[in-house]
Amino acid sequence: MMLLDVQNLTTRFYTHDGEVCAVNDVSFSVEAGECLGIVGESGSGKTQVFMSIMGLLAKNGKAEGKVYFDGTQILDLKAADLNTLRGVEFSMIFQDPMTSLNPYLKVSRQMTEVLMEHRGMSEEDATAASVRMLDLVGIPESRKRITMYPHEFSGGMRQRVMIAMALLCEPKLLIADEPTTALDVTVQAQILELLAKLGKELNMATVMITHDLGVIAGLSDRVLVMYGGRIVEQASVHEIFNDPQHPYTRGLLDSMPRLDDEGAEALHTIAGQPPNLQDLPGGCSFAPRCEHVMAICQAERPELKESAGGRKKACHLEKL
Ligand SMILES: Nc1ncnc2c1ncn2[C@@H]1O[C@H](COP(=O)(O)OP(=O)(O)OP(=O)(O)O)[C@@H](O)[C@H]1O
Ligand code: SF4
Ligand SMILES: [Mg+2]
Repeated sequence: MMLLDVQNLTTRFYTHDGEVCAVNDVSFSVEAGECLGIVGESGSGKTQVFMSIMGLLAKNGKAEGKVYFDGTQILDLKAADLNTLRGVEFSMIFQDPMTSLNPYLKVSRQMTEVLMEHRGMSEEDATAASVRMLDLVGIPESRKRITMYPHEFSGGMRQRVMIAMALLCEPKLLIADEPTTALDVTVQAQILELLAKLGKELNMATVMITHDLGVIAGLSDRVLVMYGGRIVEQASVHEIFNDPQHPYTRGLLDSMPRLDDEGAEALHTIAGQPPNLQDLPGGCSFAPRCEHVMAICQAERPELKESAGGRKKACHLEKL
């Protein structure tokens, strides 16, 4: 059975200058134990898909559709019922580590409270389990460090503390939103590698959200590519890298940093701007930036359709 099954998720934000169509009719699923990558430019809706699922939208946001977690519809759950699942059955690691860490409490207190509340552990057992979790995520001298405050950790280590907290109750699903803070690329790569490894060890499904296809290359099983609040391509990581079928995915691949013939870093970016989510075009949202644009692209929005081998794309082109 699917662990997470999202059907027709649509998320709107209401602002003084109108409605923001952040997530538009998105459907996908996550299988138990798999590692799913979500890729797209800034503003494509990656974070808001999961904020909607986790019941963490800003007050001016509203999500519609169906979200089944382990067979239960969770989109309409009352806050109290959702609280028994969030952080226990599924967890999210946020772009900014300080959103889930309390700066005024020692790490030990923040970790043990979770286990005492949700697992009914004694303080002593909870401390021992927390130390083991810090060891598991690679924090040296965990027994000493657990008595420190969040600000006493470096950016990368704080990210690891957050992972340890998210893993405490052994969730079935862990969602990792890429850190926007200036964590350097190698640290980010190490963290994602650690997550992929823990996912396999603990048979936990992981979702890795990033704007950089490169970082999930060796880690994800499948990839969803998002553009303008929609999924535009869905395929295995191998297919995405070796045979992208959506012009936007192709553009993302071409804009990955790499060395040119002279050994200098050549950076090619996709020309043009992402669509305005307050005024999405009627046809294909990528049309203004697409080098393959045809008359039908402006007239008719391409549906996300399945093709041979179970992969999907939303594009009028037969073959790229
Ligand atoms: N509270 C809000 N009110 C209005 N618009 C919002 C609100 N929160 C998010 N948005 C808009 O929703 C859109 C999607 O945002 P989202 O955070 O999901 O993008 P993202 O793909 O995660 O980008 P990034 O890579 O920069 O994290 C953005 O245009 C954003 O401005
Ligand atoms: S539908 Fe048309 S404009 Fe959109 S990506 Fe495909 S070819 Fe380009
Ligand atoms: Mg985001």
